[in-house]
Amino acid sequence: MNKKTLKDIDVKGKKVLVRVDFNVPMKDGKVTDDTRIGAALPTINYLINEDAKVILMSHLGRPKGEVKEEFRLDSVAQVLSDKLEKTIIKTDTTVGEEPEKAVANMEAGDVLLLENTRFNAGEKSNDAEFAKELAKLADVYVNDAFGATHRAHASTEGITHHVEESAMGFLIQNELDVMGKAVKSPDRPFVAIIGGAKVSDKIAVIESLLEKADSLIIGGGMANTFIAAQGHPTGDSLVETDKIDLAKELMEKAGDKILLPTDVVVADDFAADANNKVVAVDGIEDGWQALDIGPDAIAKFEAVLKEAKTVVWNGPMGVFEMDAFAKGTNQVAQVLADLDAMTIIGGGDSAAAVNKAGLDGKMTHISTGGGASLQFFEGKPLPAVESLSDR
Ligand code: 3PG
Repeated sequence: MNKKTLKDIDVKGKKVLVRVDFNVPMKDGKVTDDTRIGAALPTINYLINEDAKVILMSHLGRPKGEVKEEFRLDSVAQVLSDKLEKTIIKTDTTVGEEPEKAVANMEAGDVLLLENTRFNAGEKSNDAEFAKELAKLADVYVNDAFGATHRAHASTEGITHHVEESAMGFLIQNELDVMGKAVKSPDRPFVAIIGGAKVSDKIAVIESLLEKADSLIIGGGMANTFIAAQGHPTGDSLVETDKIDLAKELMEKAGDKILLPTDVVVADDFAADANNKVVAVDGIEDGWQALDIGPDAIAKFEAVLKEAKTVVWNGPMGVFEMDAFAKGTNQVAQVLADLDAMTIIGGGDSAAAVNKAGLDGKMTHISTGGGASLQFFEGKPLPAVESLSDR
């Protein structure tokens, strides 16, 4: 990587503007999962120790360029304050007089959190004027928001054009190092597991991983489209009919490399308490829909995974939010937890499933980025990384 990292730049005593991804799940105004806040601490603590003035900024949710009370960052500031055991200065606006004054009053080692960047329409449109307003607050810019690196927004990409020097923080550096090793020089066999609801969301990643991996396991709702492509009836299952031909092409191209479920758990309704049963993939009847992979599929996937030296997993194997259809996802998580291999979990739902199963400590790496890790595995550039200063 030819991009500057935090240790490449001089931050001593400087005003350092840090983009973090504090887009955390919230319920009733409280943070329900603080993983992303914890993941930013190494960079923040390093800057505090370097006597920098640490100015943090993040988006939260999708407030569409307007101030929406439920997306204010005050609860996030509280969690951060508890973690750092330090008072956090929190502004109610993102740019302009209030934050400018607050920054002017900062002392070495202080930490300030600006209000939600997405309260400003210029954030998502990557508006140059908004980016300049942000840049005015700082001497140097550090991006540590891995989860937002696939977004070319004002606080992630635009700003880099208005500061003299920019660098990635420790979180981005670690994400790129670990996941980069997995795709560029994996210990083999390298097995990729792709799940989730839709094939259309994952075409690019399937194509990219088919080139790199020795085996590609497909599960979750998207497997139904492949089951249809095999010529089997799919009952009431979610199938993307316009993607059946593409699924056929992928299967022909990949041959034995693609592993599909041999059986599925079907239900007579999309509901946690629906009647359910296990059927072979050629036995899905009308009135029934596949909501999880079955025990034979799990056993076959497990046999392949047990040989693996590198595993990348993105997307659940079924509707894991409902206990009756969580077995496939949980068992795959358990198999990975027991492997003597490099295990990498793409963010989003697969990370949530691993956390829910209490297996997060057993994986080599759980990415903090859902969309970002997907884009990384697709082999596409991440605009917020590309725009950082070259070494
Ligand atoms: C995420 O949660 O994936 C990132 O924070 C990006 O959020 P977004 O999808 O709303 O841009």
